[in-house]
Amino acid sequence: MGINDPVIAAQTPAADFSINQCWDKYTNDEHAIWRDLYNQQINILKDRVVPEFYQGLELLNLNEGGIPDFSKINEKLMDLTGWQVIAVPHLIPDDVFFEHLANRRFVAGRFIRTREQMDYLQEPDIFHDVFGHVPLLTQPIFANYMEAYGKGGLRALKYDCLKNLARLYWYTVEFGLMSSSDGPKIYGAGIVSSRTESIFSVESTSPNRIHFDLERVMQTDYIIDDFQQVYFGIDSFEELFEATQQDFASIYEFMSKSDKMHDVTDILPTDKIYHKGTQAYANTGGRLAKAS
Ligand code: PHE
Ligand code: FE
Repeated sequence: MGINDPVIAAQTPAADFSINQCWDKYTNDEHAIWRDLYNQQINILKDRVVPEFYQGLELLNLNEGGIPDFSKINEKLMDLTGWQVIAVPHLIPDDVFFEHLANRRFVAGRFIRTREQMDYLQEPDIFHDVFGHVPLLTQPIFANYMEAYGKGGLRALKYDCLKNLARLYWYTVEFGLMSSSDGPKIYGAGIVSSRTESIFSVESTSPNRIHFDLERVMQTDYIIDDFQQVYFGIDSFEELFEATQQDFASIYEFMSKSDKMHDVTDILPTDKIYHKGTQAYANTGGRLAKAS
């Protein structure tokens, strides 16, 4: 039954929505799914991911014995950047999520996908949350960015501008690219944990690839159920951190007054374009066309 055992699933989380990982409940099959996903992604990501991601994986020894035990990750992470990983049973309210980030706690699902879902699942599982997100939390500047984002989230709630801030998360933490002399490299967790998007995001001629611009990103729509049609690239984590250090109050103010929104395929005169996409993938039906 493993982690999906009804008795385990019925556990009541604490007031902050955290729950015991129950690491000893994972079955051999569940550990094997982790190892297979891990080995597959390690090969695919090799020359496609930023070097900081590999440093993080090594520092945390994420492959040791299958699904990682959060208490072991946390010992190492605490020493490196003061971050902790905590388990939650499902998606949690925005304010609780931000409060955890602001205090250097990253929330992760504890269930793992099934063999039928190796390539695609809608809800983030432990492989996405831990393999995808946690390695970069070993890197000081990225770790600082994530804390600042949590604090910024609590502020955005007060300004009623969560949509704008959520787009920033989407196009950086989840689907961010970083430029390098050797072409674009992946750092976003949503890409890192996906076999197919790891290749599509950096190699396909279909999506637009545009240099990151804070306000541009905060006004750009996104799609949640297929490959992105636009990716934004930063030069370094320093650039991302610096760009978000300013007080967002005035940005929120002007954005709540303007209804200017960019579609995923828009190219603006001010965009610094790395690659102008053909959109061939999306225009021929995307994921659903491939599945049928
Ligand atoms: N500077 C932002 C604010 O004033 C906070 C923030 C930092 C948001 C980093 C996102 C990332 O609200
Ligand atoms: Fe995620």
